[in-house]
Amino acid sequence: MIIGRITLSDRASAGIYEDRSGPEIERILRAHFAGDLVFETALIPDDRELIVRKLTEFVDERGCELVVTTGGTGPMRRDVTPEATREVLAKELPGFGEAMRMQSFAKVKTSILSRATAGIRGRSLIINLPGNPKAISECLEILLPAILEALRHLREDFAA
Ligand code: MTE
Repeated sequence: MIIGRITLSDRASAGIYEDRSGPEIERILRAHFAGDLVFETALIPDDRELIVRKLTEFVDERGCELVVTTGGTGPMRRDVTPEATREVLAKELPGFGEAMRMQSFAKVKTSILSRATAGIRGRSLIINLPGNPKAISECLEILLPAILEALRHLREDFAA
């Protein structure tokens, strides 16, 4: 299975700090998914056009069944990941964002500053996560059952 992970950060992509969130996505998915996983990775600035192009490339050309992004989901002017994601989706799955905000809120009161979303493009599931490395496990682990189920549905749909 091919999985894409994309880190959106002006500062990490400029080398100002290390990207710890992208590798954390990979670590968690490797711990929970059976079978051979191949990761396509990218670290790009918070630029809507670049994000749209990378999401499209990962899904349409590289065959990623799952693409997880981190960063760019907040309220700042440069935070455009949800807008870029919606631009490439055929169907939005708003429950992913709702669940991660709701579940994290008990512990992290700033979780509601994230506008993260998710959805389907072709036979692929795209999910936004917030940028904080700690947020990756806080959000991704609660989504795993729904991720596995969505991937099963997509495989069935496209096998038919
Ligand atoms: N969710 C969890 N679980 N843990 C966090 O530390 N940080 C919040 C929020 N969601 C956070 C979180 C903060 S402070 C912001 S600004 C938003 O995610 C958006 O972050 P992003 O712009 O890096 O995606």
